[in-house]
Amino acid sequence: MSGGVTRISISIPPDLLKELDNFIEKSGYDRSKVIQMAIRNFLTDYRWTHESGDIAGALILLYDHKSRGIEESLTDIQHEYGNIITSTMHVHLDENNCLEIIAVKGESGRIKELMESMMMEKGVKQLKLAVVAK
Ligand code: NI
Repeated sequence: MSGGVTRISISIPPDLLKELDNFIEKSGYDRSKVIQMAIRNFLTDYRWTHESGDIAGALILLYDHKSRGIEESLTDIQHEYGNIITSTMHVHLDENNCLEIIAVKGESGRIKELMESMMMEKGVKQLKLAVVAK
C-alpha cells in the first residue's frame, strides 16, 4: 500500500499513554505523527543492529588532531571506504579538536567496519552514528 493511512487500534499501558499525552500537550505535536516517528526510529535502529541491508546516516567523529598521524590515518580509511561515503564535512572546533560529519550510504555491515576502523585510531575521542531509513 502506498500513500494514505490505515487506522489501527493498539494496547498501551495507562502510565505510558499519560506520559505520551503530557508530551503531546507540551510540544503541540500530533499523537499519530509521534507514534509514526517512534515506529520508524525503532525499525531503523532494529535493522541497523540486527539485520544486514542498506542504510543511510551520518557518522559524527571527534578527534584530537594533534595526535600523531591521525589526519593521515583517517583520510586513508575514508579512501578505503569511498564507495559508502557520500560526503565529509570537517570543522576545526578549537586548538586541539576536530569534528567530522561523514555522510554514509550502503550496506550496514560495511558501515560497521568503517566505524570500527575509525574507533581503533588513537586520538579518536568520540564516534556516533545517526541512522535513518533510506
Ligand atoms: Ni581540523
